[in-house]
Amino acid sequence: MLPAIERLSTAEGRPFWVLRTRQTAYVFGLDDRGYLQHVYWGAQLVLDSDYGFPGESHVWRAFERPKALTTEEFPAWGDLNFGEPCLKATFSDSVRCVLLEFVDSRIEQEGDRARLTITLKDPYYPLRVHLTYSPIPEYDLIERGVTIENTGDMPITVERIMTAAWNFPNHDLYRLRTLSGSWASEFQIQDVDLAMGKQVIERRRGAAGFDSYPWFALGADGADERHGEVWFGALAFGGNFKIVTERNGFGDVAVTGGINDFDFAWRLDAGERFTAPTFVAGFTEAGFGEASRLQHGYQIDYVVPRQTAHDLRPVVYNSWYATAREVSEANQIQIAERAAQLGVEMFVMDDGWFSTRTDPRSGLGDWNVDLRKFPNGLEPLIRRVNELGMKFGLWVEPEMVNPNTELYKAHPEWVYHFPNRPFSEGRNQLVLNFAREDVQAFAYDFLDELLTENNIAYFKWDMNWHFSEVGWLDAPAGRDREMWVRHTQGIYDLLAKLRARHPHVIIETCSGGGGRIDLGIMAYSEMFWTSDNTDPYDDLFMFEGFTQAFAPLTRFRLVTDPDEMNNERKFSLEYRFHVAMMGALGVGADIPRWSDSQMDEAKRLIATYKEIAETLQFGRVYRLLSPRDGSLSAVQFVSRAGHESVVFAFLHASRFGMQRVRLRLQGLDPDATYQVDGIEAPMSGQALMKRGIPVAMIGDYVSRMIRIRRLL
Ligand code: DGJ
Repeated sequence: MLPAIERLSTAEGRPFWVLRTRQTAYVFGLDDRGYLQHVYWGAQLVLDSDYGFPGESHVWRAFERPKALTTEEFPAWGDLNFGEPCLKATFSDSVRCVLLEFVDSRIEQEGDRARLTITLKDPYYPLRVHLTYSPIPEYDLIERGVTIENTGDMPITVERIMTAAWNFPNHDLYRLRTLSGSWASEFQIQDVDLAMGKQVIERRRGAAGFDSYPWFALGADGADERHGEVWFGALAFGGNFKIVTERNGFGDVAVTGGINDFDFAWRLDAGERFTAPTFVAGFTEAGFGEASRLQHGYQIDYVVPRQTAHDLRPVVYNSWYATAREVSEANQIQIAERAAQLGVEMFVMDDGWFSTRTDPRSGLGDWNVDLRKFPNGLEPLIRRVNELGMKFGLWVEPEMVNPNTELYKAHPEWVYHFPNRPFSEGRNQLVLNFAREDVQAFAYDFLDELLTENNIAYFKWDMNWHFSEVGWLDAPAGRDREMWVRHTQGIYDLLAKLRARHPHVIIETCSGGGGRIDLGIMAYSEMFWTSDNTDPYDDLFMFEGFTQAFAPLTRFRLVTDPDEMNNERKFSLEYRFHVAMMGALGVGADIPRWSDSQMDEAKRLIATYKEIAETLQFGRVYRLLSPRDGSLSAVQFVSRAGHESVVFAFLHASRFGMQRVRLRLQGLDPDATYQVDGIEAPMSGQALMKRGIPVAMIGDYVSRMIRIRRLL
């Protein structure tokens, strides 16, 4: 087998590097002027010389010089580089032109993972840049990172530090896919044909989500779900991010991404280093579907918290849709008793349990139990939940404060604010400045105390407002704009510290639904509450969008009662369960009101879910038919071991009678034999994929779940 990273030399003795994954190669090297030039990224080719060599692409064009024509790996701003730079900085003498020259490279092997570090430096100023490349061979991905270092004795102001520029081969047609939407309509797929110019996805509100996620995919020349060349990538950062797709006048396409440079500045003092978030990207020749599966596998094997990476996510009950903030010991115990009958494993009490929290306008920040609702504290409820055989979880929103609290009275300086400017509140809440170490310490103390003094196994970590008037005027000199990054880093550090001290705890993250979902927070949380919209039909569209970029393992959905927020549609319980099952399942309905037959049906569906949860959470997902394409949609899961598969089919509205289709499956072993629910004779994998299985459905909002077991 060829090594994952090789350093080779051109005939003229210039170094270039070949990075290999299972199916792909990524090649770059020093061109004849010493720039770090991108050469190739795509399917692996037979000979090393097939990829071409750095320096070959120079052509003369009026008004351009080689630097402007070079597809650089890490362009810095200042000289003849007019595209999106990765780095922009001002030195202590006000010079704001960065030049980078190659210093050396190092290949390290850690276990079965190889890492390449390329060091560059400014020829005059004390600035070093270390670029890192780590191939993930089995998922055809490359993780890129960058650390900048001030090797002098005067500060440098960094105004832009993007982790990577990814360069793409010349194709006439590129379709750029991003995820957009808004509160309650997250993960809408947006496809645009790449024109000349720029397409920017970014956030300036402090969290990644709702209208843009730090993720992109680029399909070449008509690539679709199952076919064609697709490049894709995601940033592991949930603060303000920016990903710019740029096609210049010569047709060159690059995607540059990292921390958003808007209102950003970082002071790099003498001897200091700054590491930007990881940007992971990959390539496949098998369409958007395979691009998703590669990312899902990577997230499960490398990103989600390691302590629980192999554990099945529990079946959760969450109280929000049933009792809102009107929680009490009595009503929660009543619900818990019903939840236990259903087979729920984790009972989570949502907002409303603390301070004076009867409405969203008060209480946040004073994290003491409301004794009017829980006269003896949380202990009796938790004890009862545990006696019923379930674990207990609790809602928190550590980054927020209501102004009418003891916390705010004691520490008004802890919120972001500017003097002489009003506060723009949302839900009557303000954002605590997590760039501050005292705020981080406060949050750690109350969360640690909750976990130490109570048998709490799960936090739902919410965040319901965005950053405005982001003043941090008592910041150390020149550091106030670092809050955009320090806040996010502060949350990650806090979560890491809590997880280290309480390794059993499961974290669900949420921001009014899918307002904070990205690979950064994924490293610290098992599950994402993906949307406050629990309409299962809408959720089919959100599932399709979500799974473009994120593993079903992290998709947490609740079966709720129909409510007025969600289209006022009526669905069968089975349909609601089927949609929610495609990942981590929970129940959020007002179950004390459920009839015996609803309880029985839900119990049966949860029992079935538990039998196939491993496949639905950890398996490979195939989006067989898109809800965007017609009335019938279908999703197939195949277990990692290949021993079982589960198909969900959803009929939106039948027209002209019974809808009959043959669903052609994917991802099976063509030579294996399978038993399909409802079909007597065994079928080969080949037949299931080439001929398909018959599905007949009639009615509106009808669903089917078909289980398939491998026999031989
Ligand atoms: C917003 C979340 O998305 C809801 O699920 C719920 O937890 C509320 N916050 C509570 O205030």
